[in-house]
Amino acid sequence: MRSLSFRWLSNTILSVQNPASANRAIPFRGLGVGAAPPRMDKKREEQPSAREITVKFKPEVNQMQRILDTDSSGGWEKCWEQGLTPWDLGQPTPVLLHLHHTGALPKGNALVPGCGSGHDVVAIACPERYIVGLDISEKAIKKAEELSSSFPNANCFKFLRADFFSWHPPELFDLIFDYTFFCAIEPEMRSQWAVQIRDLLKPDGELITLIFPIDDHIGGPPYKVSVSDYEEVLCPLGFKAVSLADNEMAIKGRKGREMIGRWKRSSTQCSL
Ligand SMILES: C[S@@+](CC[C@H](N)C(=O)[O-])C[C@H]1O[C@@H](n2cnc3c(N)ncnc32)[C@H](O)[C@@H]1O
Repeated sequence: MRSLSFRWLSNTILSVQNPASANRAIPFRGLGVGAAPPRMDKKREEQPSAREITVKFKPEVNQMQRILDTDSSGGWEKCWEQGLTPWDLGQPTPVLLHLHHTGALPKGNALVPGCGSGHDVVAIACPERYIVGLDISEKAIKKAEELSSSFPNANCFKFLRADFFSWHPPELFDLIFDYTFFCAIEPEMRSQWAVQIRDLLKPDGELITLIFPIDDHIGGPPYKVSVSDYEEVLCPLGFKAVSLADNEMAIKGRKGREMIGRWKRSSTQCSL
């Protein structure tokens, strides 16, 4: 048996029953989309086989999951109120900062859905790029505002409390950055997530996703994700991955289980 530590879950321990499955190499995928890895269907997710792994979460994570399981409407707010935020890095996501500093991020209007305490929002906001950080939790938005109010770029971003799925902003976005939001929502909401991403993005806008956690665990949040989970909901809407690569700058504990995907809408169909 082998243990893996996931920092999103603040030292969450995954007990892997099938090391061969856990060690599966995640191939580098450059431009374009290759053959998608096989996707587990829902039935299989509900009836775990010996191939899958058992997750032994730390008490804080179990508590968070219990709250979200039992309170589908106010669960996130409760997590924030109780300080159950094991996903929070307490700093901007390194690869996002790198893309910003190397001029590799689109300018214009950008959205960070499920922004939490807003580190990523503040990190990439600049006079050429106005960022909206959106979160359903009032407490999260308050925290994000408190943390960021004295920043010199404070006029380049704002935080809004709203439900991503029913939010209708006055303007569309040039960039949407999703990190640990897709994996936090119920898997059956993913198609709706994709539709909303499409509706919020300008036709030539870009979606950047950090695809995490790529593994085989059961349950969530965070729910396990794979590139094909994104392709399955994005491709039918005309999105194509313009690049997919391992995130070499992932924080310790997420390395090897995180990829960066850059998606744009295209007139040509992507092959699933
Ligand atoms: C796992 S946390 C990730 C936070 C942040 N992206 C990070 O990496 O620190 C997911 C966030 O999504 C927010 N959230 C959940 N459902 C939402 C919804 N329907 N609309 C907007 N935000 C939502 C939660 O309140 C929580 O802050």
